[in-house]
Amino acid sequence: MQVIHSVSELRARLAQEKSMAFVPTMGNLHAGHVALVQQARRQGTCVVVSIFVNPLQFGPNEDFDQYPRTLEADCAKLQGLADVVFAPSVAEMYPEQQSFYIELPPIAAELCGTHRPGHFRGMATVVLKLLNLVQPQVALFGKKDYQQLAIIRQMVTQFNLPVAIVGGETVRAEDGLALSSRNQYLTQAERTEAPQLHLTLQTVVEAIVGGVVDFTVLENEAEAALAKRGWRVEYVSIRSQHGLGKPPVGEGRLVVLAAARLGVTRLIDNLEVCL
Ligand code: PAJ
Repeated sequence: MQVIHSVSELRARLAQEKSMAFVPTMGNLHAGHVALVQQARRQGTCVVVSIFVNPLQFGPNEDFDQYPRTLEADCAKLQGLADVVFAPSVAEMYPEQQSFYIELPPIAAELCGTHRPGHFRGMATVVLKLLNLVQPQVALFGKKDYQQLAIIRQMVTQFNLPVAIVGGETVRAEDGLALSSRNQYLTQAERTEAPQLHLTLQTVVEAIVGGVVDFTVLENEAEAALAKRGWRVEYVSIRSQHGLGKPPVGEGRLVVLAAARLGVTRLIDNLEVCL
């Protein structure tokens, strides 16, 4: 496994490769990231993983400075799984101030977009840069960040990028909490409470499967249940899997998404429902 920090070295190394599977990350790798890399490995090609905490996708009051940077431990986890790790500095990724950005579709202003203005614009911009640098045939993203995956799929389709986007299932702790680098911000009491987000989504899914069709009532009840337990809820929303719009009557492929804060920690989760 080769760890590369510069764009020129990356391009020279990857020029030898005919086909690549790519997993972009911000590092501090956990079993969710590792599952994506293992899925990439099964493509049978050169596996490239990027580790880059992208300043463009953090708001001014967000955790860019605090975000855990653990390159050595990350590389140890990738040993034997990845062929190339690309870990550039901010100056290497943005040698001049980035003044071109991707302009995003309306869906990026909803759900997490309402609460993290600019986040998806910064995310899509770095993902486009990374796809241009690596030029993989396949790129893998987790369903844990469902809205991110939906936006990337639309970007790739609408800009005719020559890459297949593959979604990976969410990896969870035994108690149901979706793994996230941000879980380590939780206090012990908050960590005990955290699986309630997943449990609440499960309750919504059961109601939908049980035939409830008034989604607004389900969303409001789920938000109220979390708020009562001390969560600061941003949203619980039932959407169409494809495109994430409000589901038309009779839609059979749904996803229930939520974002809420426990103390200082913002958690997101989602569950797909197929009727
Ligand atoms: P990061 O949060 O490090 O996540 C990297 C990839 O791992 C994303 O595709 C994310 O959806 C996936 N992932 C995270 N937790 C997961 C879990 N519990 N199960 C399965 N997959 C999981 O997402 C980003 O970085 C950045 O926005 C990035 C795309 C790298 C652009 O900067």
